[in-house]
Amino acid sequence: MAVFNPFVPSFKANPYLQYGRLRGEDPVHRSIAMQAWILTRYDDCITVLRDAATFSSDGRHAGGQLGEAIREQRAQSPLGEAQTLLSIDPPAHTRMRGIVNRVFTPRRVEELRPRIEEIATELLDAAPSSGGFELMAGLAQPLPVIVIAELLGVPPEDRDRFKTWSNALAATTDVMNSEAVLNEARETTLELIEYFGRFVAERRSAPRDDLISALVAAEEAEQLTTDEILAFAILLLVAGNETTTNLIGNGTLALLDHPEAAAALRADPSRIPAAIEEMLRYDSPVQAVVRIAREPTALGNQTVEAGDVLMIMVGAANHDPNQFPEPAAFQPTREPNRHLSFGMGPHFCLGAPLARLEAEVTFGALLARYPSIGRGEGDPERGGTLLLRGLTKLPLAVG
Ligand code: HEM
Repeated sequence: MAVFNPFVPSFKANPYLQYGRLRGEDPVHRSIAMQAWILTRYDDCITVLRDAATFSSDGRHAGGQLGEAIREQRAQSPLGEAQTLLSIDPPAHTRMRGIVNRVFTPRRVEELRPRIEEIATELLDAAPSSGGFELMAGLAQPLPVIVIAELLGVPPEDRDRFKTWSNALAATTDVMNSEAVLNEARETTLELIEYFGRFVAERRSAPRDDLISALVAAEEAEQLTTDEILAFAILLLVAGNETTTNLIGNGTLALLDHPEAAAALRADPSRIPAAIEEMLRYDSPVQAVVRIAREPTALGNQTVEAGDVLMIMVGAANHDPNQFPEPAAFQPTREPNRHLSFGMGPHFCLGAPLARLEAEVTFGALLARYPSIGRGEGDPERGGTLLLRGLTKLPLAVG
């Protein structure tokens, strides 16, 4: 019988083989090691993601030791009762999402396009015009960090601190979190509360045209508490950085393995947005999202109980042959391509338009700048966690 074992090195190298076996033999799989159900079929994943009443995003509903640990962690949280979008359910989620949707508008995102183009140009200007170029440090990591900093309205000079903070928080998405990782995340949260708190106070007396000012306006209209603003700013940092970095890294790796696709995009950049959707599907930056069952429910040929943890393996759903013919093939013009890389249902990624824009600008700039992009010296290095899939090094040979 297939098992889910994310601890073996081969899983990090290629999780899709394990997903495929599970989907075929045991699509609603009870993992003893993870104390969770592992869902690998597209249809089961969307059933759960769409039904927020039965499948909660609030970890406090988890049964057993995990639930206890989460409740204890929350009780000690420096942000008190304030929750983020990611960990609350409707109707509270609907109310908060409505408020942030108003400030995180497509207009505010689209307005960023020229600035994102400038940032990509500046980063590429600093890179060698030919020879070796390490993509992750040179472009994929700094670009999203600078964009989020500017969107929030904090000084871009602080970007190195942003990256350190965002790494410390992203580290908590791994299989098991050591005490050291949790302590570091707590310390980081305290630093971020102080950091963003300063900007919130400043914007109360002198508003600007930035996201923090828009959130402060919602605070003044008594729609958000100060703690909720701080929690949201911190969430953006976690949710928006490593994910977008992973999209740029994983997508570039896919192009290196499919030079004919890279050539087609270089010849006709209007194909880039569709290719980005395929990059998202083919090697998803977020591999799993988590839900807690609120009541006994049948899923596949299993019954999950109230308090059970479900891991919705979107990376696996994206390779389900019932939804995507030839799922292991990278097909940049794939249509339809209803991947689950940004989730689905009420928690659908708030930053999806921004992530798509950043990727479109980045791949456009990269392909226009270099007539040839190949593998550089040294192997790509994998980072990531159980929930996030990405690279820490991707050496390129550009010319
Ligand atoms: C390629 C890049 C990205 C990927 C793959 C991604 C993926 C996801 C996924 C899968 C979810 C759903 C989580 C769930 O259902 O529990 C989500 C939610 C979210 N994402 Fe993203 N994300 C990306 C970029 C961004 C960016 C750039 C931002 C903001 C700057 C962002 C902000 C958020 C927020 C605030 C939520 C919570 C929405 C809610 O719970 O209502 N994401 N993202």
